[in-house]
Amino acid sequence: MPRYLSKLETAREFERKETARIPAAGRPAFHLSPVVGWMNDPNGFCYYGGRYHLFYQYHPYNTVWGPMHWGHAASADLLHWDYLPCALAPDTAADAAGCFSGSAVPLPDGRLLLLYTGVQPAATDHKELQAQCVAVGDGRDFAKDAANPVITAAMLPEGYSAVDFRDPKIWAENGKFYCVAASRHKTEQGSILLFESPDGHAWHYLTVLDASHGALGKMWECPDFFALDGAQVLLVSPQEMRATADSEFHAGDNTMALLGRYDPATHAFARQNVQAVDYGLDFYAPQTTLAPDGRRILVAWMQSWATAPVNPAACDKPWFGRMTLPRELRVQNGRLYQTPVREIETLWHGKVELNGVTVAESTALPGIHGRSLDLTVRVDAAASPACRRFTLRFAADNALYNEIRCDLDRGELAFDRSHGGSRRDCAHTRHIKAAPKDGVLTLRLILDKDCAELFVNDGERALSAVLATPLEAGAITFAAEGGPARLNVRMYTLR
Ligand code: FRU
Repeated sequence: MPRYLSKLETAREFERKETARIPAAGRPAFHLSPVVGWMNDPNGFCYYGGRYHLFYQYHPYNTVWGPMHWGHAASADLLHWDYLPCALAPDTAADAAGCFSGSAVPLPDGRLLLLYTGVQPAATDHKELQAQCVAVGDGRDFAKDAANPVITAAMLPEGYSAVDFRDPKIWAENGKFYCVAASRHKTEQGSILLFESPDGHAWHYLTVLDASHGALGKMWECPDFFALDGAQVLLVSPQEMRATADSEFHAGDNTMALLGRYDPATHAFARQNVQAVDYGLDFYAPQTTLAPDGRRILVAWMQSWATAPVNPAACDKPWFGRMTLPRELRVQNGRLYQTPVREIETLWHGKVELNGVTVAESTALPGIHGRSLDLTVRVDAAASPACRRFTLRFAADNALYNEIRCDLDRGELAFDRSHGGSRRDCAHTRHIKAAPKDGVLTLRLILDKDCAELFVNDGERALSAVLATPLEAGAITFAAEGGPARLNVRMYTLR
């Protein structure tokens, strides 16, 4: 008698066979990539059983999006990840068309609960339906609730969509469970709804926390909601935005932090500030968790729906997609700040420090080069009065380069990978605000082979991008226009 494998067993079997064939050398070293196949959103990010767990939207069998599974990895330090077997496969009536994004929370009895979107296949003359499902397990194997879906569109007030209803983010508070989920209202468009549960299984609707009202994109995806430094933060990933005049948001899908006040008694959220989370080319669907020491840590898909189909990396590897470096969040002056997790310091090797360097023409500095590095450049604008423009080129060779051009007069910078080797026609440049603070503009650039993350002024703005440049191109040069620039430069190799 042949033994038929379940969908989950088939995925796990496939992973076992394929991973042996995938060289680690082709992967980024400290950014999680899928064990095989396609990855999008981070899911179920949590600290459980002494390790961080990070699940992800996953199609094992191809490097393009397909029937969604949950991939799974765990790490003690947020930088070195071990793969665990595929956690969820689309194998029940409630999720046969996909196990979409969701989240995780440890239960009082020591088990881990996953709350995710189950997509039900389209019946004749209907579209696929989305509702929220539960699975509980030991951190490796999970059993889906027989009652799934446990949060259905029937619980939503009038006008919300059963077709766009997804991405629950769960947390425990005062002996209860709460989750936020996204839905599209027929006039208010992207909206975030709040639900409550005594046990994580039986849920009821509480309120609408916030909505686009037609001004901030159409559907909102992947919400997260937490208190931080005296403020309340609602993260969402809005689709189909118009570019804003202040260059805060670009056309298309963005990520957004809504900062405000929250009244837990009435569940009312009052939005005060709106900003982008990351200003880069490849960043979407961020999700956070609390570290045991109280830090709020964020991780996001280091890709976007606009760039994923044209990313050259999709064609030449048996895996596609990666996560950003996990980042520590803080709220300062009404803004969300982010810096790479401090664990990255454990990877620091071979410090090179050059203080008071003056550059004019394009200059390479001794010891400053490579593709696995943590580089901080402080441009002393106050001591460089004639300098109008400062340029940092990286991941460069004789023909290719990526660059950061800082316009010190306008307090802006351009991140530009258009000469980095891509043969694809998609956005390659972003312009962001980057003004010197107390006379100094600080740029921290982290490279992990073929991806770059830039943090401006100690996390005031972040920008993520995947690079098309061959790894041999490791030159870094500095140049100034108008007059010389005075710099302090510090670099560690990451190992
Ligand atoms: C965001 C998203 C989510 C959805 C998932 C499907 O990138 O569209 O809204 O749950 O991807 O893979």
